[in-house]
Amino acid sequence: MHAAVLSAFGEPPRFAEFSDPEAGDGESLIEVRAAALHRVDRARATGEHYTSGNAADLPLVCGLDGVGIGPDGGRYYFALPRTPFGSMAQRTVVPTWTRAPLPSGLSDAEAAAFINPGMAAYLPLVWRGQLAEGDTVLVLGATGVCGRLAIQLGRLLGAGRVVAAGRDRQALESLTDLGADALIPLDLPKDKLIPAFAAAAGEDGFQVVVDYLWGPPMAALLAALTQHEFKPVARETRIVQVGDLAGATVELPAAALRSARVTLSGSGGFAPHEVRLKAFGKLCRFAAAGAIKIAVEEVPLAEVEQAWQRGDRDGRRQVLIP
Ligand SMILES: NC(=O)c1ccc[n+]([C@@H]2O[C@H](COP(=O)([O-])OP(=O)(O)OC[C@H]3O[C@@H](n4cnc5c(N)ncnc54)[C@H](OP(=O)(O)O)[C@@H]3O)[C@@H](O)[C@H]2O)c1
Repeated sequence: MHAAVLSAFGEPPRFAEFSDPEAGDGESLIEVRAAALHRVDRARATGEHYTSGNAADLPLVCGLDGVGIGPDGGRYYFALPRTPFGSMAQRTVVPTWTRAPLPSGLSDAEAAAFINPGMAAYLPLVWRGQLAEGDTVLVLGATGVCGRLAIQLGRLLGAGRVVAAGRDRQALESLTDLGADALIPLDLPKDKLIPAFAAAAGEDGFQVVVDYLWGPPMAALLAALTQHEFKPVARETRIVQVGDLAGATVELPAAALRSARVTLSGSGGFAPHEVRLKAFGKLCRFAAAGAIKIAVEEVPLAEVEQAWQRGDRDGRRQVLIP
């Protein structure tokens, strides 16, 4: 079969032949219809992601999730193909529990593009962030695919105010169309960025912060949240860490935790299955109803190497079609 085959960590995968998978006990064979090229796929292929595996696993097929046809003829979203198989191929094999039927109203490419970043927006808001009606949400890294979804989902889930922080000014300005009430450019120098966060937080503060960046933007936010006097802080700020595109570490001043009601948590692959299933159902309902804008660029699987090097354009997620 044709597949996106990774032969060395740190290099892009190449369009090549790969052996066909066979399903074992508890597994489903999937005829793949669409597989998105997510950040996590790129990160795993560097060899440095915590789920990359090691060189002995190579060669392998890239791709963590996708949309395809199961053995019963149904159309499914699926995830976690068994190594060395991946979703960027004509066929793959997954644990049956990871597949979930898709409603009509969502194209193969839209569903493949949407579920992974949709989860990375929904779970931090709802499961870890405990978003309540009227809360103020801050999205750090709002210009990316996940960030754009976090803004829209924040609105749909009842946030009173959504503040979007992003680096690319032109992309940032377009986010008001998605529901952002206030914008913070992250290319401001530190001495201007800290007051910008403080001003956007206002007296009531941010109740939920969804963070795709970590590094210097998070350091600036923590500095803005730190109080410089003894005063009661009425509302909690729940910071949920999701991605670290601006830096893998951050210095955490003790005063930030002692002077403000800040809690730190994260959202990743450890969410319980029932939590994911519930989120999946909700995301599919929003998307099928047209309540969420999903921007995709369909690319033939044969062009995977060029797509890998080019990256997403204009916030559109690349989706490989075998
Ligand atoms: N934990 C999970 O479950 C989970 C799931 C999905 C994704 N993620 C992670 O979430 C993150 C976002 O994913 P995505 O799909 O939204 O990525 P994406 O569409 O490629 O967007 C990347 C975003 O990061 C911004 N960015 C990159 N480097 C930056 C820097 N140094 N300073 C400020 N902004 C910077 C970009 O800003 P500009 O365009 O404005 O320059 C862009 O908004 C990634 O780290 C991804 O691995 C985590």
